[in-house]
Amino acid sequence: DARAIPRFVNALPRLPRIEVADGDSPSLVLAETTQDVLGGGLGLPTPVWGFEHRIGDGDPVASYPGPTIVARAHRPLRVDWVNALPNQHLLPVDETVHWAFTGHGYTLARHGVPSVVHLHGGHTPSADDGHPDAWYTAKDARGPSYSGTRFTYENTQESATLWYHDHTHGLARLNIYAGLAGFYLLRDDRELELIARGELPGGPYEVELMFQDRTFRPDGRLAYPVHAAHDAGPKSTHRDFYGQVIVVNGKAWPYLDVEPRRYRFRLLNSSNSRFYQLSVNGEWPFPVSLIGSDGGFLERPVTPLRPVLISPGERLDLVADFSEAAGATFDLMNEAPTPFPHGAPVEPPADRVLQIRVGLPFDGAAANAPLPAVLRPEPYTIRSEPARTRQLLLVDRTDGHGRPQPMLGTVEQGVLAWSDPVTETPRLNDTEVWEFYNTTQDAHVVHLHLVQFQVVEEAPFTADQDPETGALSNIQLGEPERVDPAELGPKDTVRVPPGHVTRIRAVFDKKGTYVWHCHMLEHEDHGMMRSFVVG
Ligand code: C2O
Ligand code: CU
Repeated sequence: DARAIPRFVNALPRLPRIEVADGDSPSLVLAETTQDVLGGGLGLPTPVWGFEHRIGDGDPVASYPGPTIVARAHRPLRVDWVNALPNQHLLPVDETVHWAFTGHGYTLARHGVPSVVHLHGGHTPSADDGHPDAWYTAKDARGPSYSGTRFTYENTQESATLWYHDHTHGLARLNIYAGLAGFYLLRDDRELELIARGELPGGPYEVELMFQDRTFRPDGRLAYPVHAAHDAGPKSTHRDFYGQVIVVNGKAWPYLDVEPRRYRFRLLNSSNSRFYQLSVNGEWPFPVSLIGSDGGFLERPVTPLRPVLISPGERLDLVADFSEAAGATFDLMNEAPTPFPHGAPVEPPADRVLQIRVGLPFDGAAANAPLPAVLRPEPYTIRSEPARTRQLLLVDRTDGHGRPQPMLGTVEQGVLAWSDPVTETPRLNDTEVWEFYNTTQDAHVVHLHLVQFQVVEEAPFTADQDPETGALSNIQLGEPERVDPAELGPKDTVRVPPGHVTRIRAVFDKKGTYVWHCHMLEHEDHGMMRSFVVG
């Protein structure tokens, strides 16, 4: 029972950081380790998967989440991702979905667990992108798109809160749930200058926050539900997953001690399906400024008037000012229904996420300058004329075992499976508008590899839908709605509310095969993913 797990008794772990210097090319080893995720003196350590790494000349340590890689913009970095995962999964693998080993004759027991790492939000060459079929195991089994274990990240983009995670076909929900995720912070010269001047909090005052939800067995092991899927027997494919325990940076319901001053928080929702609508009792009792979206800074700091929403896969960069709050304690709450936005209200204990205690003495030696009024010279816009507009579809289907299956497709052709021919083929360097028409009951979160995009607008729509194919005709658009100020910066992942079309604009400037998919991991693993080919 999750209610027996005490909240706010574990200190928030600071994630280990690999500050990359020129010429470094780190090796990160995907391996099983044991961590006290639940803490609280319960004595229930959890086997997890993490990344073994070295900091400087130190001994290798394995950590879940993985170490934060801090890299420099415009300086390429090569990372060797070594798969040392065991021959058995921590969680129940479901072979009734199309997954990595489908049709290959491999078995987990003989060939080991497949994995491939993707740098989410990275402007990465196709061969280094961690395609879902580029997986490999510790025992030399290889996916059809395998392109080695060393990936070069060109880092040809601005300062951003990127992250890395497993992307194995049909297995990502379980591999990420087991722990295979970490931050990748990209810094450019301007950001370093702002940090040096104290205008952006740095050092101990810049804190990564990775939100996840997990369910545990009574002995502390991770649990991922299985249920009878009609004729398929008990299987781990679900419409979505909501864990009972909120885990931040790999600890259950932690607290964070802070000084009365500004802090910069790099938020990442790497939960499987859960959305977070964050606030302190519906408001912000201390000043909060949103300063960045997934892929870079906003034009200027934005003060959120409402709870802040972060969907699976998204990041938020924000600065909170505790200067006037010495001695106060704040419980960060989540009010996002499950599923979002029309599902059940979130019940205790999962309605609390993190406790912030403004109890540390102010260290006057560290700079605490006001935030810059302007963070980028002009609003983030993609000005080039679009060569075309693609009308894409999010549609509810049922799979061959009678299970609900949200899928992708095009408005014209209707639903398309992973294995159907590629329909999205931008020419190299073309600008395109992509429109996502969500005909399902729930919000989904569309992520494109390769690009950062501009969210142009969102509008409600009605249409006639072909009951066989899901294709739409006679589309009637409602009034476009205002883009959330937090979405005005570069984005790679965008929420598409039910009954709405979300319109984005992107420039496709590298050749090769990439994927676009829903970032709710249960959906991604169950066919809500398609390839696109540039050039
Ligand atoms: Cu965060 Cu295709 O993934
Ligand atoms: Cu989805």
